[in-house]
Amino acid sequence: MKDRNIMPNDRERTVIPGKYIVSTSDRSGRITSVNDAFVEYSGYSREEMLGKQHNLIRHPDMPRAIFWLAWNALEAGEDFYGYVKNLCHDGGFYWVFAHILPEFDAEGDIVGYKSIRREANSRAIAAVVPLYADMLAAEQAAGPKEAIAAGLSVLKQYLSAHRQSYEQMVSSL
Ligand SMILES: Cc1cc2nc3c(=O)[nH]c(=O)nc-3n(C[C@H](O)[C@H](O)[C@H](O)COP(=O)(O)O)c2cc1C
Repeated sequence: MKDRNIMPNDRERTVIPGKYIVSTSDRSGRITSVNDAFVEYSGYSREEMLGKQHNLIRHPDMPRAIFWLAWNALEAGEDFYGYVKNLCHDGGFYWVFAHILPEFDAEGDIVGYKSIRREANSRAIAAVVPLYADMLAAEQAAGPKEAIAAGLSVLKQYLSAHRQSYEQMVSSL
């Protein structure tokens, strides 16, 4: 569960190029392993994270529709790429470019997921900050039931204005 006592603040931790923040999860998103970089950037100990849902590090500035897209791809056995703002234990944040992928057993069934996160470049962050803010505002205005549709609709408008697919946008930034 999310730690509701954390007050988000403006302290940004920049991910150093070449650092990979890696974690794995079971099929529900519960954390099964984290690397040292994840411990370092999140500010949680390994013990605090293992067994928790990944939304432990969810930042309130992130639109729900982005995670909907991620889970939609993962549950279909596909990889997901996206820019994610994560919350640190001390309320700070760090931006990452995340690659999340399913892991399969010998029979081809999904056994869990893995996320490999690296630095997000400043151009990408500058592009997604206003987009995510618009998506979030639409989600909040729409209310919980309609939130994802509202967030996706803002994303769709952005993509059609830029004549891009989501994948093209992510890889062009
Ligand atoms: C392997 C894996 C890694 C994930 N990494 C993150 C992450 O770094 N940050 C994040 O906010 N959500 C991450 N998620 C998504 C969370 O499971 C969750 O969908 C998201 O935090 C939204 O939480 P909520 O639905 O409770 O609002 C990850 C999911 C998986 C399967």
